[in-house]
Parts: sequence; C-alpha cells; structure tokens
Amino acid sequence: MTVPFLDLKAQYETIKTEIQSAIFKVLDSAQFVLGEEVAAFEREFATYSGAPHGVAVNTGTSALHLAMLAAGIGPGDEVITVPHTFVATAAAVKYTGARPVFVDIDPATFTMDAARIEAAITPRTRAILPVHLYGHPADMDPILEIARRRRLLVIEDAAQAHGAKYKGRPVGCLGDLGCFSFYPGKNLGACGEGGLVTTANEQYARTIRMLRDWGQDRKYHHLLAGYNYRMEGIQGAVLRVKLRHLEKWTEARRLHAGRYRELLAQCGVGIPAEASWARHVYHVYAVRTTDRDGLMRALGERGVQTAIHYPVPVHLQPAYADPAHAQGSFPHSEKAAREVVSLPMFPEMTQAQQEQVSSALRAIARPR
Ligand SMILES: Cc1ncc(COP(=O)(O)O)c(C=O)c1O
Repeated sequence: MTVPFLDLKAQYETIKTEIQSAIFKVLDSAQFVLGEEVAAFEREFATYSGAPHGVAVNTGTSALHLAMLAAGIGPGDEVITVPHTFVATAAAVKYTGARPVFVDIDPATFTMDAARIEAAITPRTRAILPVHLYGHPADMDPILEIARRRRLLVIEDAAQAHGAKYKGRPVGCLGDLGCFSFYPGKNLGACGEGGLVTTANEQYARTIRMLRDWGQDRKYHHLLAGYNYRMEGIQGAVLRVKLRHLEKWTEARRLHAGRYRELLAQCGVGIPAEASWARHVYHVYAVRTTDRDGLMRALGERGVQTAIHYPVPVHLQPAYADPAHAQGSFPHSEKAAREVVSLPMFPEMTQAQQEQVSSALRAIARPR
C-alpha cells in the first residue's frame, strides 16, 4: 500500500456534499468574481484569525505583494526575511521593487532568528517579514520589539500557518499585516488558488481592497495603479465550508504529530520541535537526516511518498542571487536545505499509514 504525501481526495470525500452545494449556490447566483460568498469568507476568516479586517485575493503571493504595497514599500527599500522559505516570500518583495535582505533561521524551529535582525538593518530597511514556516510560528515578541524600536513594519507570511498560535494569539494579527495562502495543499485549501490579508489597520485594508480590483474606488475610477488579484466566488464559497472544519483538521494534524514523535523516537531522524509558546499546525512534518537521498529512496521502495521543503535556499537560487548573500552566508538555512525531508501529513491519515511510515524508517534506521 502506498502512503501518499498528501491526500486531497480523502478530504474531499468527507465534505463532498457540502462543497458541491456551496459551488452550485455560486453557479446559481452567477457571482463568479468577489461577491457575497467572498465577502462572508473575509469576515469569517478575519474573525477566526482575531483580525479586524480580512481582504481576500487570488493567491498568497498577491496577498504578500499587496500587503507590502499598502504599507508603502517600493523601489529602494529593503525588507528583511529568511532564505529558508518558499520562493514566493522573496518574489513578492521583488515585485514591489524592494530588495529582500536575508537573515538566518533558528535551526530548532526553522523560523527567523530574531537575534540576527539588528545586524541586517540599514537606513533603507522598511519592514521585517517573518515566515511561520511549516505551520510553526516565528518567535514574534523579539521581532516586534525590534520593529517598534527601529520603526519598522512587521508583515507575517502565514501562508503555511492557518490557526497557528503564538503565546495563545493567532498568527496573522501579531504584526501590522498577515498574509495567507489557500493553495489546495495548504491546511485551509481552496478548489483552486486563493489568498487573504489580515490587518487591524483600516487604511491598509481599504488600499488592498482597491489594489486587488484595478485600484478602483468606484467602477471605472482608478485612484491607484492596481491589479486583477480578485478572489473568485467559488473559492470564497468553498473556503467558507472548509473553514468550519479547520479546527478539527488541525487537531488531527497535531494528534498525528504527537504519534509520529513517539513512533519516530528511535528512527535516527531529527523530529520537529514545538516551542513552549507555540501552537504548531504541522502544515509540513519535516524531519532531519544527514542521508536524505538514501532515506527518500528507501521510503519510496517501501511505498512511502516524501517531499523536500525546500532543497535550495532562496539566496542560492539563480533568480535571487545577490552579491551580499554568497554561499555560506546563512549556514543554518543551507544545512536545513540539505537535511530536511517531509513525511506524509494530512488530517485524514490513518494510524495504519503512520505505522507504515515509522516501520519503514525503523527498517532503515542506523545509529547517528
Ligand atoms: C511560505 C509561503 N509563502 C507564500 C506562498 C505563496 O502562496 P500562493 O502559492 O498561494 O501564491 C506560499 C505557498 O505556496 C508559501 O508556502
């Protein structure tokens, strides 16, 4: 039996009738772009995230792009982020014309090491962009303290962290703006693409609403040079259905992570940490190994699918090369990129599937 890395069909089977009736409702209404379902989803997701405003867009990348534009970031500015992330984080900074400046990660949580931020600040720095990678929140208090003292904005990349909490507070409303993705494989995934910005700042919310829809303040009156970044009605309707199940799915992920922690204890891999102040939502269950190729091959032979998030840190991607960010600049990110391998993790995963993963790992374990 193959243990899939992710099983979107299994999830769909559990909510098929709800999803289909939500989609039919949109077809009947013919509100295909934005509309009532999207507006309702914005309110419901903002409430879920503890944020006064939510603005839905077409992708998580657009959420990051518009969050930065609304905050006034543009050419000549610098935004501090991490190289151990999906490329979209840095790409969105570049879309604004600003320059991504990297700081290394804390190797335990795979998130921004706040102790390295001050050394990266220059007169051009405008914002800090931590990533709640894999669903583990970044250590936000020291980041927010530096931002306050140095008058910088904090924009959270929460694309992988719906429902994650930092010291009991949901991510996305800890900084000035929070950016989420609803790509299908995310913890809250659309039947297509989707994204959303959360913020407590009404002006930012208003600007993002305009920017996502051609910069219009009313139809055919373009106050800003905007974009076509609108969420589709069907995605809003689907996400409303799925949001109602999200907490149950997150608890299932956390249960699976707890079981993995026990099952993998003697398997010779480094298991993910959950800081005492964190509610990790295990979007990705990334373990560490010094023999990744061998481990992936052996697991594959035993029917276990795996993935790598991510094999090359952003500063070593040709498209993001920067003379200030040579190889060796961010050793923890570079080591993580060499060592991480993601095991199957999805709410519907069965105990038998988890045992198959762990027995495959036990079979190939060797003392480290
Ligand atoms: C950390 C991170 N940031 C940003 C994004 C971009 O989201 P999207 O794929 O919805 O544009 C993703 C998801 O792919 C992500 O994982």
